[in-house]
Amino acid sequence: MAKALNVGMIGYGFMGRAHSNAYRKVRNFFDLDYAPVLKAVCARDAAKVKSFADTWGYESTETDWRKLIERKDIALVDICVPNNLHREIALAAAQAGKMILCEKPLAVNSKEGAEMVAAVENAGVANMVWYNYRRIPAVTLAKKLVDEGRLGRIYHYRAVFLQDWTISADLPQGGTGLWRLDAAAAGSGVTGDLLAHCIDTAIWINGGIERVTAMIETFVKERKHNLTGKVEPVGIDDACAFLARFKNGSLATFESTRYARGHKALYTFEINGEKASIQWDLHDLHRLSYFDHRDESGLRGWRSIHVTDGEHPYMNKWWVPGLQIGYEHSFVHQVADFLEGLSKGIPTHPTFRDAQETQKVCDAVLESGRSGCWVNVA
Ligand SMILES: NC(=O)c1ccc[n+]([C@@H]2O[C@H](COP(=O)([O-])OP(=O)(O)OC[C@H]3O[C@@H](n4cnc5c(N)ncnc54)[C@H](O)[C@@H]3O)[C@@H](O)[C@H]2O)c1
Repeated sequence: MAKALNVGMIGYGFMGRAHSNAYRKVRNFFDLDYAPVLKAVCARDAAKVKSFADTWGYESTETDWRKLIERKDIALVDICVPNNLHREIALAAAQAGKMILCEKPLAVNSKEGAEMVAAVENAGVANMVWYNYRRIPAVTLAKKLVDEGRLGRIYHYRAVFLQDWTISADLPQGGTGLWRLDAAAAGSGVTGDLLAHCIDTAIWINGGIERVTAMIETFVKERKHNLTGKVEPVGIDDACAFLARFKNGSLATFESTRYARGHKALYTFEINGEKASIQWDLHDLHRLSYFDHRDESGLRGWRSIHVTDGEHPYMNKWWVPGLQIGYEHSFVHQVADFLEGLSKGIPTHPTFRDAQETQKVCDAVLESGRSGCWVNVA
């Protein structure tokens, strides 16, 4: 018999759905000692949260996250709310001795992130941050190839994350669905929202980042604020491009914007090593492009690996070779790994401490964007 693990979810938006789906699916595909139980979901609107609970099979609802944290029948708190609420909820949940899974970015800045790391470590509670791209099989395979030394010395890391949904100057900021444009709720713009993903993947695959120099821009300077009804200055970065030096001596470029007309979620990265290169593209997430200079010269070229074979990461849990999986599966994998970590009594990465490294890079990027100078990552 699997041990029940009672989940209390806070927030039922995009990530609330992605995580609920993962908790429901995980035991159908992975053999685990723990069984997530959808015990309670919390959001402020009683009718809407009830409807969400009915759709996804939660046993009960709350409209105040403090009440959810106080409940004795909740073992794990899942934070799926805007970034400015992560710290307060995590601190309360740690104090109550709950395990915590927190959405990314860990916090709105590394000062808050440090408090959160201290809170979970002092409380000794299991913790993890949902940098889910690590668990897309092709990305996991990229990490494996680099760890095996197949690329040799790494020279370059190149990542972009492009969207186009905030170009209209008429788009308001703040409130439901648009909190990402409100610096008070989001902390930053594309840096914390999109580049945080790129930075997490990069640190995971290529090691720590030493220093950065950034260029940031806010193209639309004022927008109506949905919560006040007034036109207010926009405090987020609409676009950010930065150069970075990794501790291993490699050079990197990162770029993100919500003003790249035609792109909805183009996350790509490329790594160039002495012996081989790797490319990955979220729009084609089940493929990994690989070029190996050691191949016979006349046949040398980019291979497009369809990452769907049983020997590829996670893929033996799904269908038969050749049949691909999608975005939502990265969350299923992350839950599976977390539950396996619990059984073994080991942390599942990225922990709060791991995610704090990304937070520090984001802080350095924003500071450099404002000052125009190179900034060392703290
Ligand atoms: N891992 C990823 O790829 C990924 C993708 C999207 C978002 N995120 C992160 O997930 C978090 C949530 O983003 P989202 O896209 O799901 O946002 P969303 O706007 O779709 O949902 C936010 C939810 O928070 C709820 N909420 C807001 N204030 C609350 C409060 N005081 N108490 C209880 N509930 C409250 C809202 O009602 C809503 O249900 C953010 O930190 C975001 O950065 C991560």
